[in-house]
Amino acid sequence: MKLLHKKFNSLYGTSLVEVLSCFAPGRINLIGEHIDYNGGPVMPFSISNGTTLLLRENNLGVHRFYSMNFPGQVHTVSVQKQYHKIENHWFNYPLACLEMLNDINLSITVGVDFLFSGDIPNGAGLSSSASIEVATLFGLNKYFKIGLQNIDIVLLAKKAENDFIGLSCGIMDQYAVTFGKSGNVLLLQCDIPEHKYVAADLGEYEIMAIHTGVKRGLTASKYNERYTSCMEAFALLKPRFKLKNLCDLSLSDLSEASSILGKDSELFQRTRHVVSEKERVLQAEAALISGDMVLLGKLLNESHDSLKNDYEVTGFELDSLVEVLQGIDGVAGARMTGAGFGGCAVSLAKKGVIQQYKSVISKKYKALTGLQPELYLAVPSDGVSLTAC
Ligand code: GLA
Repeated sequence: MKLLHKKFNSLYGTSLVEVLSCFAPGRINLIGEHIDYNGGPVMPFSISNGTTLLLRENNLGVHRFYSMNFPGQVHTVSVQKQYHKIENHWFNYPLACLEMLNDINLSITVGVDFLFSGDIPNGAGLSSSASIEVATLFGLNKYFKIGLQNIDIVLLAKKAENDFIGLSCGIMDQYAVTFGKSGNVLLLQCDIPEHKYVAADLGEYEIMAIHTGVKRGLTASKYNERYTSCMEAFALLKPRFKLKNLCDLSLSDLSEASSILGKDSELFQRTRHVVSEKERVLQAEAALISGDMVLLGKLLNESHDSLKNDYEVTGFELDSLVEVLQGIDGVAGARMTGAGFGGCAVSLAKKGVIQQYKSVISKKYKALTGLQPELYLAVPSDGVSLTAC
């Protein structure tokens, strides 16, 4: 932290005005994939990796952005009534947040100096973007005493991603990053949205995130395609089943839904994933509460199959990694986590097993893909907070 302060002062100069610092974590989703934007329940938790932000107002009429992760250049944007996305720069995320504040007439009218430093592995699909957005809004809210509640921060951060960045994401990432609680997973009901905590009592098991080595880039168009398919299916099924969202459909409605959508249609496949995933999340909650790790593992495996076959968001590397993990003795289950198309898999395994078999996993995965997997222990941690300077 001292080093970051030093860097801040060397970039922006010293001042008597205090620097505010905060930390927003990344997240891992245990189960409940691609159903947040369909109003379903999901089970994410925030992790100890995340984004540290230092900020302070300046008297210059410009916002200045610097990231330790993209060193070399301070980006400057003048204070404006309306901000627009600037190419594909990383600082579009904080800029998007400033624009969301403009949108609700809570504009920041003075220039602000920002310094970001993140330790979420690049392209891992562990929500570095939500982490930056929530850190920005949380930091600005505290610094300028704007009076936003945490739930307002979640909603604004999601809107920043939807309207400014252009990803039709649901609420899961921004919510988990904000409301995560050490030792717990969230059971988040996305349509309300409202959460409860479920203790992550895993007994002799632990959760690991394993990076495929494939950066989750250029996925917005595929992600948005899935979103659009779900909205189409919802529009077609809504009149018959009186749905509030696609997750409202029940398993027993599926056979009738197949005759409306077409038995072999893509829309039906997507719908079947959504509906079955919702059921798996509810079963996962019960498994976690009763300490049934074998059942929880089985649900993770089933979730992956559904994301692979019905939702088609996994891809060769994630499928290969998950298959390797599932074949290791002591692994209760494994699946992709996050949006898919690369990024991380998550495993539930007996403590120490993944580390112990690290070289076997690497060897097998490398033989299939030519890539080196990376392992991270995933410990449920606290959500966004101020940090000591
Ligand atoms: C991304 C999105 C989330 C969610 C997941 C898939 O992380 O940001 O809203 O849809 O993908 O579950």
